[in-house]
Amino acid sequence: MSEKSFVMLKPDAVSRRLVGKILARFEEKGLQIVAVKLLQISKNLAEEHYGEHKDKPFFNSLIEYITSAPSLALVIKGDDVISVIRKIVGATNPKEADLGTIRGDFAMDMGRNIIHASDSLESAKREITLFFKENEVIDYDISDNLWIYE
Ligand code: PPS
Repeated sequence: MSEKSFVMLKPDAVSRRLVGKILARFEEKGLQIVAVKLLQISKNLAEEHYGEHKDKPFFNSLIEYITSAPSLALVIKGDDVISVIRKIVGATNPKEADLGTIRGDFAMDMGRNIIHASDSLESAKREITLFFKENEVIDYDISDNLWIYE
């Protein structure tokens, strides 16, 4: 069943001009972009998005990083979308991420790991609502999905 996930290309991905290469990986896999927005994330929004980590030692530097330059927020749709996207993204620590994953191929540091992806359908719903209005998510069908899903 097709479901939606929230993905964010962090400031380093945008500033390093990696947007095209990263989005190509999702599209080539057969996933579908249903919303996209370039935005400068405010401190309030960053703190709400990462609220569950507010007591972690890295929280302040994470907020500083995420608010330091524009990010690209996305909603991506597909079958088993949470686990498929997390496989494409790779481990949180880029030094441990497998080559062939986005973090494994493009990043070195935990504090510059270039991309966020929802870890569950429940977080995806929360994060999508935080970043997008209902009418900004376009739930369209692509007919060539016939050539991706049996
Ligand atoms: S934890 O402690 O296991 O709950 O944390 P984790 O799930 O690994 O990471 C939560 C988010 O915090 C980011 N993170 C960091 N950012 C900056 N510096 C350090 N040291 C650091 N450690 C973890 C991590 O990338 C997660 O953010 P997202 O955006 O989900 O990747």
